[in-house]
Amino acid sequence: MFFFFVFTIWAAALTHILYRTKVLVGLRRRSLAVFGVALYLAGFAYIPARVMIAKNIAEDLAPALSYTTAWFIGVAGILWTLLFIFEIVAATVWLATRWRVRNASLRMRRTMAAVLWSAAVVLSLIGCTIASSTPSVTRLQVTVPGAEAKRFVLISDSHLGAISSEKQWCRTLKAARELRPDAILIPGDLVDDHSRHTEPQVALIREFFPGMPVYITTGNHEFYSGVDQFKKLCERLDFRLLRQEVEILASGLSVAGVDDRHLIPAHTAVEEIRPKIKGAVLFLTHRPEVAHFLRNRPMTLVLAGHTHGGQSLPMVFLVGLGNGGFKAGYYKVGDADLYVSRGTGVWGPPMRLLASPELVLIEVRPGPQFEVKCSPM
Ligand SMILES: [Fe+2]
Repeated sequence: MFFFFVFTIWAAALTHILYRTKVLVGLRRRSLAVFGVALYLAGFAYIPARVMIAKNIAEDLAPALSYTTAWFIGVAGILWTLLFIFEIVAATVWLATRWRVRNASLRMRRTMAAVLWSAAVVLSLIGCTIASSTPSVTRLQVTVPGAEAKRFVLISDSHLGAISSEKQWCRTLKAARELRPDAILIPGDLVDDHSRHTEPQVALIREFFPGMPVYITTGNHEFYSGVDQFKKLCERLDFRLLRQEVEILASGLSVAGVDDRHLIPAHTAVEEIRPKIKGAVLFLTHRPEVAHFLRNRPMTLVLAGHTHGGQSLPMVFLVGLGNGGFKAGYYKVGDADLYVSRGTGVWGPPMRLLASPELVLIEVRPGPQFEVKCSPM
């Protein structure tokens, strides 16, 4: 149902791009047909490319095809956003002056089309640069009664696999290591697939953090790519996969983790784990809306990802709609605190706009009461 909804919206977006390009460029029937077929093929070619990766078909070709088609989706998404702004401006001008875009000369309309398409490509290239940059660090200072001082780094939504950048991943791990954590926390979507590229990239965590405790939960992409394979990978690398389980992190502080809702309904997971939690807890969940089920539990800092902060246009304006109203950053949800990380990697389009990659440093220290303060570093 979700994918049907997404595909329908995407087809509508491509149709809007096709219609506007036709009007602006003045495409005739034959060239319109060629452009339309090319647009829809490019717009949906990402799906077979991902299937090729999932089924290990043409292992050398599939990542390049997947990357190119994902980039095209990113460009089209940005262009669609620009077209929305264009339509609003055009409607305002029409209301004020009764002048229509169709009244412009062909040369002027083609200039408009060239500006729109060029702006989308340039913004996509800027987005690729931002996505491959070293993540910024957000600091959460948490005071916990009776706790000892500890530091944790949250690495969310890295989406490692066939089309992720190993260079950017190494930069991310290096930046995380410089934060001198006592443990690593990963709230899901560590992997994007189980291609031959995936495990070596995941294993880099052990190279950068030998012997360090790593606590992890599943995200929707661990479900899509195969949770049994992921479980074995965690066992090989000595990661502690928390599936409705709680572990003591330090005196006066625990870490809890629940599976993604594809594996267990959120309310069931929370009810299963609730009796196991005592005192202050860092609660790992992939999806932020799980915080709604913990709203009556004090001394709970829910750490989530999934949204990527929208990642790029137009999703940065829409992502909260499908995620319990949460986009990115700090929220107070009843008695619980919630932080939604933008994550470090990308899913689909290899770009980020208005949602740069992020690491989260959680500094725990003793204090009179449980309190969370959020600040950039
Ligand atoms: Fe993700």
